[in-house]
Amino acid sequence: MAGRIPQAFVDNLISRIDIVDLIGRRVPLKRVGKEFGARCPFHEERTPSFTVSPQKQFYYCFGCGAHGTAIGFLMEYDRLEFVEAVEELARVAGVDMPTLTDPSEEPTAPLYRVLEIAAHYFQEQLTSHPAARKYLAGRSLSQETASHFGVGFAPPGWEGLTRHFSGQGLVAQAVQAGLLVEAEGRIHDRFRDRIQFPIRDRRGRIIGFGGRLLGEGKPKYLNSPETPLFHKGWQLYGLFEALQARRQPDCLILVEGYMDVLALAQAGIPYACATLGTATTDQHLTSLLKVTARLVFCFDGDTAGRLAAWKALQVVLPIVREGHEFSFLFLPQGEDPDSLLRREGREDFENRLKAALSLVDYLFQTLREGIQDLATLDGRAQLADQARTLITKTPEGIYRELLIQRLEQEVGLARSKLGATLAEHPQNRHRPMPGSIVQMTPVRRALAILLQYPTAAASPEVRETLDLWRDLDQPGIDLLSQLLEITQSQPTLSMASLLERWRDTDLQKPLERLATLSLEIPNAAGAGAELAGIFQRLNSDRRGNEEGRLMSCAKPSEMSAEDKTRLRRLLSLRQSPKG
Ligand code: UTP
Ligand code: MN
Repeated sequence: MAGRIPQAFVDNLISRIDIVDLIGRRVPLKRVGKEFGARCPFHEERTPSFTVSPQKQFYYCFGCGAHGTAIGFLMEYDRLEFVEAVEELARVAGVDMPTLTDPSEEPTAPLYRVLEIAAHYFQEQLTSHPAARKYLAGRSLSQETASHFGVGFAPPGWEGLTRHFSGQGLVAQAVQAGLLVEAEGRIHDRFRDRIQFPIRDRRGRIIGFGGRLLGEGKPKYLNSPETPLFHKGWQLYGLFEALQARRQPDCLILVEGYMDVLALAQAGIPYACATLGTATTDQHLTSLLKVTARLVFCFDGDTAGRLAAWKALQVVLPIVREGHEFSFLFLPQGEDPDSLLRREGREDFENRLKAALSLVDYLFQTLREGIQDLATLDGRAQLADQARTLITKTPEGIYRELLIQRLEQEVGLARSKLGATLAEHPQNRHRPMPGSIVQMTPVRRALAILLQYPTAAASPEVRETLDLWRDLDQPGIDLLSQLLEITQSQPTLSMASLLERWRDTDLQKPLERLATLSLEIPNAAGAGAELAGIFQRLNSDRRGNEEGRLMSCAKPSEMSAEDKTRLRRLLSLRQSPKG
């Protein structure tokens, strides 16, 4: 979705811009059949696997899975935000930007508002609850740091915030924002007797809270639930504040806890952020790498920390590119940055950061630890085997090269002896994009056809096919229905324009996956015929269900007149040739 920019404007822009021209100005493209090819600008490679389709107005790399529309390309390649990318395209196309609608009219605006009000409320409560202030002082948190991060306090009762919002008529919005809970017809505060940490998005807007219990109890930390604004697996605590401190930090530290971020900032290391109690995801890395190419993962020295680090490595390997610098810092057993900083100063900690293990060192050190005797042939074979599995996850390029060289040294064998996998990296050349192995269902196939051949929607076969399938209770039916309506009412939209409608929604990724599937359809006419075939099949599923329901639900004498008519209609349709 285009946010504040009208859809019609984005559609018009995409129809005026030629993605081949746009990318061609930045990456030398060569014509290959109906498409254009190049060495991928998003990962190191020797043989080109990057393609640009003028017809779909879409780019896709078979090597690393990078893909997107003209807008997406500018966001990735020029590192622009969505609105900036649209502005740049408008400039290239020579059209004026539309007057943006007032952001306060957006449907999410009231949610931001109640979260902001709650943050004020919590901060106020902190001043009137000495126990909470004592707790923070006991953890050596200065008032300055606390107020810089907007730390507050949710008092022990069940109704403080609820009453605050009912006075302002904002209860429903506060429930939607995850601040209040509705249970058995009653509404109460979600956060009680907790130190409250406001979580902000990249633009500094509060999107949720984390709350820590003052005393013992479970859960120690409570986070906002998933809401239209808050997605735990994506967001990073402290990233906004880190960017306030340094607009272009040359390094960011990823830590585990809220208090760690605060303790580091207070100690003069204002470039740390934390995941929200989840493992590191590729969305986290994407956000972080937009800001800096140097990341230090900081973990506890205990088993859980080691495990979390190994998991993070698995997320890093497939995306690591030239210019990136990932390192891994393990703290002494039982310490986290917060506890450590109470005993060490900034300098000691920064020395630890400097001494952090590089990705390559960390990988081999960990593998070596798991092998009994490296002096034996067997031990070296094991090491080679395990390293090879990890190395094949990395894209072609400098890191893969470094890892292979290191493996050669470690086991004392030349790469030609290390097995065909490394010598040729065949899986790299035609690796499908990560996660693209989707299970094909008729609904998914129909969605993919409509995206890639939007004109199929207007083909006579499709137009003549009934749409009983719209009432089917299957995943994706509503989306299919919506996509069909759009493609029928606006038959000139390209795949890129269609995809832009779902930008920043939960459906963006699944749809992009379908957009990059290879459908093996010869032409648009073939697409129309196949699409109609799928609709007919879905129609007969629908009929099967409905007939089953109507036949089993009642004896004819007990059937309503309406149901009888439906059954008759269904049975007669069975003979109709056009499904
Ligand atoms: P830790 O348990 O390591 O706590 O959780 P901590 O950060 O050291 O907290 P303090 O120092 O005891 O206050 C690390 C992070 O995991 C998430 C929180 O984001 C926390 O900061 N977490 C932890 C939860 O989401 N829920 C919990 O119950 C515990
Ligand atoms: Mn801690």
